[in-house]
Amino acid sequence: MNIVILAAGKGTRMRSDLPKVLHPLAEMPLLAHVLTTAYQLDPRRLVVVVGHGASKVQQAMKAFARAECPITWALQDPPMGTGHAVQQAAAHLDPSMPTLVLYGDVPLITAATLTRLSESAAQHDGMALLTATLDDPKGYGRIVRNAQGMITQIVEEKDADPAIRRIREINTGILVVPTHRLLGWLQSLTNQNAQGEYYLTDIIEMASKEHHPIGSSQADTADEILGVNSQSQRAELERQLQARRAQALLDDGVRLMDPARIDVRGTLECETDVTIDVGCVFEGRVTLARGVHIGPYCVVRDAAIGPEARIEAFSHIDGAQIGPQAVVGPYARLRPGTELAEGAHVGNFVELKNTQLGQRSKANHLSYLGDATIGQRVNIGAGTITCNYDGANKHRTIIEDDAFIGSDTQLVAPVTVGQAATLGAGTTLTQDAPAKELTLSRSPQVTIKGYKRPHKKAH
Ligand code: UD1
Ligand code: CA
Repeated sequence: MNIVILAAGKGTRMRSDLPKVLHPLAEMPLLAHVLTTAYQLDPRRLVVVVGHGASKVQQAMKAFARAECPITWALQDPPMGTGHAVQQAAAHLDPSMPTLVLYGDVPLITAATLTRLSESAAQHDGMALLTATLDDPKGYGRIVRNAQGMITQIVEEKDADPAIRRIREINTGILVVPTHRLLGWLQSLTNQNAQGEYYLTDIIEMASKEHHPIGSSQADTADEILGVNSQSQRAELERQLQARRAQALLDDGVRLMDPARIDVRGTLECETDVTIDVGCVFEGRVTLARGVHIGPYCVVRDAAIGPEARIEAFSHIDGAQIGPQAVVGPYARLRPGTELAEGAHVGNFVELKNTQLGQRSKANHLSYLGDATIGQRVNIGAGTITCNYDGANKHRTIIEDDAFIGSDTQLVAPVTVGQAATLGAGTTLTQDAPAKELTLSRSPQVTIKGYKRPHKKAH
């Protein structure tokens, strides 16, 4: 089929310079959600109607377009109604198959609902509307049916008399139409209505008068048809989407301590017996292996966490690979390029960047380890710092297996600590430390006998 996505509306009520359809929901632009769903339906043609901020929208959608069905862009500037918008797309549609119209600011619509709508259309000579029955239908176009229950008309709220305003079945705006008929009806639209716009909904009365059957179906869940017109509606849909994702995780057997207190902004894949405590945010692509435990208030982005690893509270993980049974945090920060081998420990207030920490090695307290390759069973004492940056370039630190790094040591890179070497506490290492030996740099300790502390002067 053809799919047309309407995205030319200005979105004034967002009170933002960003085009409305580029506002994010779970880190992804609204329009990208609709595009992703559209692609699930395997369209032959995909036309997006843009107006306000068109070039920004086109640029932003490059990452979401698919080669098997590239996006055809239609420009509508200025916007003069939904019918006028579809007119701009008309030339790009294949008349031999039906056209599905979607809205770029209705992001939670699902492929399952749209498939049912298409099935209803197939039983009604290719035409069906997605409708909803609302307790408060205010603002929506109303679905008018005749005594036989057949749809005859859609009347916009602003054009409706009190009797029609009492109808609770509303037009979601999403519909399927036979394209060859649509092309004719579009030519007959006028803007003789309360808003002076070309209404797409006027084609319903035209179809009805020509005795064209019109099917209808309803969405699986109420949130699917909701549009984003304001920041508060965006926030509301964000919660709905997060609730859906949390439910999917629970259904998969993930133990969420509170499904209302998790945010999955990218993709989160979990094996069995994963526990996620409250307040965690997952971004980008994250995989959690069997038995992983994520403590409260962690942020995890683009990470693969191995079996039975534990991430303790308030840790921030970005671009890291974490091996089986590793322990991280609380209050750890792992930055891109970090790899922790099996059983490695990274404790509180430890930052790692572009650093490999070998099997069962430990950095338990207050350290910065950047651009370092650290072997197995190494102990990094509290307060150890790799001085990896000389003001111009970054240099690597290499620490071989079984080394012991005393507390408060500075490793001035490039530098290598040999296998099983020991560094005394407080060492500033500027040259390689030989294997198996004790190396330290330390000024001799002195005691000043009889020393008197200064006293505050009396006035
Ligand atoms: C439209 C429907 C109404 C339905 C409601 C559902 C018409 C005439 N009315 O109302 O029956 O209940 O949606 O939300 O169709 N757009 C364009 N170009 C335009 C106008 C709109 O691209 O010239 C896009 C908007 O960006 C938006 C969508 O079409 O994605 C709907 O526009 P909106 O102004 O929200 O529709 P309403 O007139 O409120
Ligand atoms: Ca609207």
